[in-house]
Amino acid sequence: MVGLPARGKTYISQKVCRYLTWLGIKTKVFNVGNYRRQLHGANLPHTFFDPHNTLGEQQRREAAAAALEDMMRWFRDDQGIVAIYDATNSTTARRRWLCEKLGKEDIQVLFIESICQDEELILANIKDVKLSSPDYAKMDPDEAAVDFRARIDHYKEQYETITEQELTYIKLINVGSQNIINQIQGYLESRIVYYLMNLHIAPRKIYFSRHGESQYNLAGKIGGDSNLSERGRLYAVKLPDLIKTNLGDQDLTVWTSTMKRTIETSEKLDYPKLQWKALDELDAGVCDGMTYEEIEQKYPEDFANRDEDKFNYRYRGGESYGDVVLRLEPVIMELERHENILIIGHQAILRCIYAYFMNYSHEDLPYIKIPLHTVIELTPKAYGCEEKRFKGMLSVHQVALS
Ligand code: F6P
Repeated sequence: MVGLPARGKTYISQKVCRYLTWLGIKTKVFNVGNYRRQLHGANLPHTFFDPHNTLGEQQRREAAAAALEDMMRWFRDDQGIVAIYDATNSTTARRRWLCEKLGKEDIQVLFIESICQDEELILANIKDVKLSSPDYAKMDPDEAAVDFRARIDHYKEQYETITEQELTYIKLINVGSQNIINQIQGYLESRIVYYLMNLHIAPRKIYFSRHGESQYNLAGKIGGDSNLSERGRLYAVKLPDLIKTNLGDQDLTVWTSTMKRTIETSEKLDYPKLQWKALDELDAGVCDGMTYEEIEQKYPEDFANRDEDKFNYRYRGGESYGDVVLRLEPVIMELERHENILIIGHQAILRCIYAYFMNYSHEDLPYIKIPLHTVIELTPKAYGCEEKRFKGMLSVHQVALS
């Protein structure tokens, strides 16, 4: 990362890390600020960051070196694929030092520079994120803001935007209003750049709902393309009110799969709609249309294997959760580009999308609880998502219990 403090570097690092991890690419963020706090303590005044403060300068270099050493160890010993070195790296000399060190280990470097001239955005970032950082714990917020601004000024004194033509980089200017790319090569770099170009920070909400109960749900069968049950149709009728109560008059776009049960669930919603083939339920191959008991009897070995490693198990002639994640990648990209979206989907599909936003591991992903007849609302915030769940009516499970 490259950029002055409060330019969203940590936010971008976390997003890229979450995205690549979700795709199955081993990724880790190394935040130099954390090393600085560990080595030299938190609550350091802005003077610590003054480039004329020789001791401060030396101690900051120590923190940078410690993070870099750990990062290189992680590449060597833990088979890491992408490490994100989250620091200001705001001088040509610092970037040269990084390239030299990493070049010796054959590690390719992609610089992501975040430039922001929008004072309002910077102020929002300081308020939202920086003042709650451990650097300012227990400090009066106004005092902290003054100190933080002085810290930014120290960095500005030395800041050199990337101009080194031989470097691989992307410059993100004013969160997506302009992007400059240089020397980007290969699949992984292109993927990261493409992802960064789709990020925005406008406030928005993402809603998920499984389709209403289907005929197959009633019969305990998986897959298929059945219609809604009576209870499912009732949920479809209630859904518009449930959404409106929480969203108000804001715009919304509804995405469904191409299967009858999601399309029927969306029928009463008066918003623009889009059908995605990529949102169709996990393909259960030869097991499509069977109950879990039937699968256990007919394919006991498969049943056991799925239990052993549910994320990677691929149905004969069908898909695994891993396959589904890959086919959902364009959906995630579009979700990042858009504002308010409601996805009416299927259990396995919503687990995968939810895992991306809520940072679930591949191991836990196939067990995430996405109940029927419930709307999940996610509001992306600086470092994660806030979640609310609204029950449309009693779920099948609750009805069965009552
Ligand atoms: O039972 C409903 C369903 O959507 C099936 O169509 C699908 O195969 C299943 O859920 C996915 O859940 P799990 O991976 O837990 O079997």
